[in-house]
Amino acid sequence: MKVLVATEKPFAAVAVDGIRTVVEEAGYELELLEKYTSKADLLAAVADADALIVRSDKVDAEVIAAAKQLKVVVRAGAGYDNVDLAAATAAGVCVENTPGQNSNAVAELVFGMAVMAARNMYDGTSGSELKDKKIGIHAFGQVGRNVARIAKGFGMEVSAFDPFCPDEAMEQAGVAPEHDIAALYAGNKIVSIHIPATPQTKGSIGYDLITSMPKGGILVNTARKEVIDEEGLKKALAERSDLRYVADVKPDNADELVEAFGGRVFFTPKKMGAQTSEANINAGIAAARQVVAYLKDGIDKYRVNK
Ligand code: 3PG
Repeated sequence: MKVLVATEKPFAAVAVDGIRTVVEEAGYELELLEKYTSKADLLAAVADADALIVRSDKVDAEVIAAAKQLKVVVRAGAGYDNVDLAAATAAGVCVENTPGQNSNAVAELVFGMAVMAARNMYDGTSGSELKDKKIGIHAFGQVGRNVARIAKGFGMEVSAFDPFCPDEAMEQAGVAPEHDIAALYAGNKIVSIHIPATPQTKGSIGYDLITSMPKGGILVNTARKEVIDEEGLKKALAERSDLRYVADVKPDNADELVEAFGGRVFFTPKKMGAQTSEANINAGIAAARQVVAYLKDGIDKYRVNK
């Protein structure tokens, strides 16, 4: 059996070593396709793969169709908006993610970017501190919980909006539940976004929510660029010269935003939230173990295309 690791943005070498050990100890063969630049390379590599481990790599219907022996795809990470679930299900392919494995890495980056924005992108002028400021967490999943934990270390006041999370889970973490999304944006100087990109959430954060933020508001997006209504964001930044937007990763209108609002916006050139050796080891090895558990015993605990 062949397990293909296809990562346009490679894991740290130490994570690849760990993945190799898990795969080879199970008696399978590991093939690596790293830093590939064309879809043709991916299509060729999946042709005889029984299992596929990816990151944000696009696994669309064409990739699934080319992978005639494919049984399982594990997205080493949280968001699986890069995988065509319908095509996988139709082909009888199990799709899984590795929830929580890279969430601390993403949460730490939230504060890297929040501090940078609060210090005026380190431009030499006097900025502000996070201590005693209010942070609103938009979705209280694995990353949101880590953001809350770190925010408390900064001495921040923390609230969260998540209709899918019981109040008690937030309260146990010392976080005030917020039941109104408008109030989350209007009531917090810093808002950190942690919703997945789904048809329901795409473009859902726009002009109204962004302009409702308090003076000096900082919007931090380490989720997906697609959840932002980019036209609404542009209009909000144009009207409110006090607002800042920092994101992991570039919006489609990044060049326009940087030109118009340079100093108030920052974008990572490549998605960096999960790009730590720790997160790579956690998510990569979890993915390899999940592949082995599925191929050997049909275990599909983290299946997302039920
Ligand atoms: C995730 O969904 O797990 C993160 O966005 C990380 O994505 P990446 O593996 O492409 O860095």
